[in-house]
Amino acid sequence: MSAMRGAASPEYGGTASVPGDKSIAHRALILAALAQGTSRISRLPSGEDVASTRKAVEALGATVEADGDDWLVTGCEWTSPPGDIDCGNSGTSARLLMGAAAGFEGLKATFVGDESLSRRPMRRVIDPLSRMGASFDGGDTLPITLTGATLGGIDFLQPVASAQVKTAILLAGLRSSGPVRVVEPFASRDHSEVMLAQFGVEGSVEEIVDGHAVSLGDARALTATDVIVSGDPSSAAFLFAGAAITGGTVTVTDLNVNATRTGFLEALDAMGCTVEFANPRDWAGEPVADVTVSRTRTLQPIEWHRDKVPATIDELPLLAIVAAFADGESLLEGLGELRVKESDRLGAVIAGLAANGVSVFPDGDDLRVLGRGAVRGGGRIMVGHDHRIAMAFLTMGLGTKQAITVDDITPIATSFPDFVEVMRSLGANLEDAL
Ligand code: S3P
Repeated sequence: MSAMRGAASPEYGGTASVPGDKSIAHRALILAALAQGTSRISRLPSGEDVASTRKAVEALGATVEADGDDWLVTGCEWTSPPGDIDCGNSGTSARLLMGAAAGFEGLKATFVGDESLSRRPMRRVIDPLSRMGASFDGGDTLPITLTGATLGGIDFLQPVASAQVKTAILLAGLRSSGPVRVVEPFASRDHSEVMLAQFGVEGSVEEIVDGHAVSLGDARALTATDVIVSGDPSSAAFLFAGAAITGGTVTVTDLNVNATRTGFLEALDAMGCTVEFANPRDWAGEPVADVTVSRTRTLQPIEWHRDKVPATIDELPLLAIVAAFADGESLLEGLGELRVKESDRLGAVIAGLAANGVSVFPDGDDLRVLGRGAVRGGGRIMVGHDHRIAMAFLTMGLGTKQAITVDDITPIATSFPDFVEVMRSLGANLEDAL
């Protein structure tokens, strides 16, 4: 355990870059490992979650080689790995790899994870993949052993929007010849759809009465391609939240600005921040820009409804924190999925805000946060193996009257190993603590 304090940072601001997007990186490794030929992946982030997927695809038979800062991945027919597939803390690794491996007949693989991942629900992917023909031994949580099979198609109505579930089904569907369609109530992040097209797979999307439908077409063979991983909006969100809280200005370069990921920027804009996009371009089918956030006036409270949840799923704890600095009561609706992330993030946010003097009113899956402009701080946060809870409350401390302590910063290495250095380079006052 290694504790740290975030303290008042009146000089906070400047320009920085963030690691490559974790979601895109997992997908790049998995699709390249399934494709015919060698793909070059550039700007692959160095966090532990993505390393779990990289090691897994290698264990499943793909060739993975470092080439300077790039990675070269050569795809193959996947085979049973020599040992367990250790997904560490990464739910995306576990769920996506199960989907991708499900269609290899006779492949047998046991998926394991750390204490946090071993508590997270896997039934949501096991059920549809079983319907397609794969078999699973184990319960609803890891460890789980998958046996691959020749798969049939599926028409699956997801009760909640989840890019991981959608992607697991689409990846399994690559090796099925039957029709494959996934419908979710609201569109979740679409990096799989974008990247499958880059690898030559046909697909289509449509809005129907039940929600957002994604289908695979007939062409499902993958051909190697090159992928440059754009900056992770969920990591950049901490840098931007720092600007919103302290009244500074921050620019993040080479940032992914896919519309299914820019919800937090939309929220900051609605709360009175200025959000500017410069130098727009395209990397591997994904929109990229340099984004600047500044706050020059009082933060306004916000009403954030459930249709907005998928585009902010990983930023909701941070949004609740920024709302604590607004002038009035904010409403964040439909936060139930936060209970099954790396920790119970809804519980962590409620406890963490209260410990820092903020009035919070939970009501089922909804949360009201009473902002009073200034925030006392002074709390100690137990991060419970959750990288985003650690980073969110350290960031909160930059704007509170008293410093905020988090009990353990080690989980930050799963997604943003340089978080402390990057924040300090912007003037954030982060100090080691007991
Ligand atoms: C992810 C999807 C989201 C998100 C997670 C990454 C992905 O999870 O919270 O950090 O890469 O598909 P859900 O699909 O469970 O909402």
